[in-house]
Amino acid sequence: MAKNFDVVVIGGGPGGYIAAIRATQLGFSVACVDEWSNDKGGPAPGGTCTNVGCIPSKALLQSSENFEHAGHGFAEHGIDIKGLTLNLPQMQKRKETVVKQNNDGILYLFKKNKISFFHGRAAFMAVPATDAGYQVSVTGTANETLIGKHVVVATGSNPRALPGTPFDEKMVLSNTGALAIDAVPKRLGLIGAGVIGLEMGSIWRRLGSEVTVLEALPTFLGAVDEQIAKEAHKQFLKQGLGIHLGVKIGAITVGKNDVSVVYADDKGAEQQAVFDKLIISIGRVPNTIGLDADKIGLKLDERGFIIVDGDCKTNLKNVWAVGDVVRGPMLAHKAEEEGVAVAERIAGQHGHVNFNTVPWVIYTSPEIAWVGKTEQQLKEEGVAYKAGTFPFMANGRARALGDMTGMVKFLADAKSDEILGVHMVGPMVSELISEAVVAMEFRASSEDIARICHAHPSLSEATKEAALAVDKRALNF
Ligand code: NAI
Repeated sequence: MAKNFDVVVIGGGPGGYIAAIRATQLGFSVACVDEWSNDKGGPAPGGTCTNVGCIPSKALLQSSENFEHAGHGFAEHGIDIKGLTLNLPQMQKRKETVVKQNNDGILYLFKKNKISFFHGRAAFMAVPATDAGYQVSVTGTANETLIGKHVVVATGSNPRALPGTPFDEKMVLSNTGALAIDAVPKRLGLIGAGVIGLEMGSIWRRLGSEVTVLEALPTFLGAVDEQIAKEAHKQFLKQGLGIHLGVKIGAITVGKNDVSVVYADDKGAEQQAVFDKLIISIGRVPNTIGLDADKIGLKLDERGFIIVDGDCKTNLKNVWAVGDVVRGPMLAHKAEEEGVAVAERIAGQHGHVNFNTVPWVIYTSPEIAWVGKTEQQLKEEGVAYKAGTFPFMANGRARALGDMTGMVKFLADAKSDEILGVHMVGPMVSELISEAVVAMEFRASSEDIARICHAHPSLSEATKEAALAVDKRALNF
């Protein structure tokens, strides 16, 4: 017997499970289907973010940073450690515990919110004959037919492979394998100096790998404000990350114990590098595998994304799609916002996502975070702007922390002073950026931030000082 719901959500990642929770808050009966399994075959909701993305990477980034501080940073503080060793199995075990706590947290939220959770793979069945809703089959631990008046597709994305070099997760790794390496590789190669490449490269360099990053584009972090990207690039090179820009990848040969990569360098000269492991992080592709979108006539674009309008509506009535499987940045928090907005639209409310204030964070050390327009975008668009920067070098808290790299940068409209973009590189900027997001959401001016009292001593004073610098009146620099 088919089970009827107001809303069937396909996918239990940040887009899907948040949409499910918001829909139950609004009084709907809700099912959520997710097929991710843990190593014991049990359900592991939370998607890429929880299982092989945001959460485990942050666990390993923290652990590896602690290791690096213990080895290289503590002595300056008068803490001498002798006989420091790395216990990688314990570091990985801790990461797995953190992941499991998050999986269990989502299962608890399903129960608390009375969401019917089905562990298995969902696929669309034939076009509905009546108005009852869309039929969705579930195959796996649960084998059911669900009928949803509304269906929200939140099936996420998969890593993009290089043609001819499939991921085997032993020698050629995606984010999944990169987070599960069981012995520190001596020579680690990375193709793609994007968000994943830099975060993974940072983890393994701190743990002792010699890391080489091969990037096709001639500029480092092209989407980031140039001044910020330059500063980050300088710091990464200083730390010993080998970053090669403007390369063209040629033959990749996977051996039993190593991987050889032939590439043309930025001058066109052929080079060869041999690695113990190779991570490929050249972007991700939308995941609609096995969804049987064609059975109901759900339209995808030429790259496989589900086509949606600004409200996450697909070409089919009452079928919605959110997160990595649709246009826009592949970020967990963007997916969450879309999930909430869709549930509210189903309820006849006016859910809204402001794409102009979606923050970005790269969790390297120094961290990189930004919201809004970059200086190069403003120049291209011919917008008259004022800029103000403030270095962490002149911030007392950063000095006490022993981490004075980087800066905060404000870009404000030349006439109205409205904040158009805020860019940061430095300590804890992943947290500092939210003040800028709030300010931009309220369409604040740089003067608004400059007039607000910020606690002393705190890193957030750098934000206030950069806002003051827009008007050339920074106090401590
Ligand atoms: P990305 O789009 O950030 O970076 C991919 C890089 O690979 C680009 O710099 C690109 O120029 C380069 N590339 C592409 N083809 C290449 C080739 N053939 N040879 C050499 N370089 C090549 O993608 P990434 O790092 O794989 O991440 C995927 C998604 O996951 C991103 O959209 C990102 O937003 C998201 N993510 C977000 C995180 C965060 O918010 N902290 C953390 C990790 C991933």
